[in-house]
Amino acid sequence: MNSFAFIIHPIDPKRDVQRRFPLLGRLLPEPAIHFFSAYFPPVYLSRVRGIRSRATGEEVEGWLVACPLTPQRMLSLPLERVYRKIIETGRLAERLGARILGLGAFTAVVGDAGITVAKHLRIPVTTGNSYTVAVALQALWEAAGRVGIPLAEATAAVVGAAGAIGRVAARLLAREVSRVILAGRRPERLESIRPLVEAEGAEADIAESLEALREADLILAVSSSPVAIIGPEHLKPGAVVCDVAQPRNVSPAVAAQREDVLVIDGGLVEVPGEADFGFDFGLPPRMAYACMAETIALAMEGRYEPYSLGRRLSIERVEEIARLAEKHGFRLAGFLSFGQPLTDEQIQRVRERVRGRSQWALA
Ligand SMILES: NC(=O)c1ccc[n+]([C@@H]2O[C@H](COP(=O)([O-])OP(=O)(O)OC[C@H]3O[C@@H](n4cnc5c(N)ncnc54)[C@H](OP(=O)(O)O)[C@@H]3O)[C@@H](O)[C@H]2O)c1
Repeated sequence: MNSFAFIIHPIDPKRDVQRRFPLLGRLLPEPAIHFFSAYFPPVYLSRVRGIRSRATGEEVEGWLVACPLTPQRMLSLPLERVYRKIIETGRLAERLGARILGLGAFTAVVGDAGITVAKHLRIPVTTGNSYTVAVALQALWEAAGRVGIPLAEATAAVVGAAGAIGRVAARLLAREVSRVILAGRRPERLESIRPLVEAEGAEADIAESLEALREADLILAVSSSPVAIIGPEHLKPGAVVCDVAQPRNVSPAVAAQREDVLVIDGGLVEVPGEADFGFDFGLPPRMAYACMAETIALAMEGRYEPYSLGRRLSIERVEEIARLAEKHGFRLAGFLSFGQPLTDEQIQRVRERVRGRSQWALA
C-alpha cells in the first residue's frame, strides 16, 4: 500500500502541546515548554485514514509524527542537535512503515532545508515546498480576482524572497505582474535573485525595509521569522496578503485594525476522500497544508523520491506537482483569514477600496 508520514512540531507552544498532552500544556509556562522541548523524544501523533486518490480510487496510508522542538529552539540550539532530533523523528516514521517523509514548518527551514536530514534516512524526504508555491500563487491569483486587482498592472512583494519558497515564487509572480519587490533580511541574497526575477519579465526592486510593502497590491509572506513582522502600518489600502509562513508573518493587529486589506492563510488545500488525520493540527476537517499534500500526492503517484529539497526549487517541479496533485483530487481550499472563514462582506469591503483607486477605476 502507498504510504507517507509527515512531521509537525509545536509552533504556538502552549496551544500545540495541549493538543497532545493537555495537562502538560496547561501546567507548563511557555518558556518551560521551549526549554524542555529540547529534551523530549519524538512523538507518535496519529494514524491518518480515509485519504483516497480521485485518479486511482486507492487509499493511501499515513502517520503524523512530531518533532518536539519549537521554532525558537530550532533557531537557538546548535544545528547538529536540531538535525539529530528531526532525524530521530524520521526514524520513527520509518519504523511505522512510511515510504516517504514530509517535513513540516521549521523542520524544513533549519539548516540546508532537508538535505542533511534526507542523507540520514532510508526513506525519501520532501519539504513539500514545490506544491506550497503552487497553492500559494493559486490563492493569490484567486483573491486578486475577487477583489478586482488587475494582475498585469499590479505590484507584488515577496517577504522572504531569498528563501526556498520565496525564490521560485518571486520568479513565477514576475510572469504575471509588472513589478516585484523583493524583501528579506540580507540585501546581498536578494540582489542575487533580482536578475532571475527580471528575466521572467517584471521590474524587480530590493526593499530596504518592510516600509516598501506599502507600494504592493499583492504580498506573499514567506519569511522564516519566528515572530510576526508585517503590521498594520506596512499595508496599502486594498492590499491582498497571502500569509504562508508558519508561524504567521502577519500580526493579528492587522485583523483588528485594517478592514481595508485582505489577509488569507496561504498554502491550504482540500484533501480527496474522507480524510481523518486522527489529530487536530488546527485546520477544519479534510483541509491540509500544501506541504503535507505534496507528500501525500507523491505517495499516491508512487513517486518515492526526494522531490523538494534545499533552497533552489525549480519552476518545472512546481508545475509538475500542481498537475499531479490536481489529478489525485487535491483542490485549493476555501479562504481562511487568521484561521477563520473569510466572509463575502470582508471581500466586498476590500473590493470597494480597490475600486476607489483612481488608476484602476475602470478595472
Ligand atoms: N503553509 C504551508 O503549507 C507551508 C509549507 C512550507 C513552508 N511553510 C512556511 O513558509 C515559511 C518559509 O519557508 P521556506 O522553506 O521558504 O524558508 P527559508 O528557505 O528558510 O526562507 C525564509 C526566508 O525568510 C527570510 N527571513 C527570516 N527572517 C526574516 C525577517 N525577520 N525579515 C525578513 N526576512 C526574513 C530568510 O532570510 P535569510 O536568507 O537571511 O535566511 C529566508 O530567506 C516558513 O515559515 C515555513 O514554516 C508553510
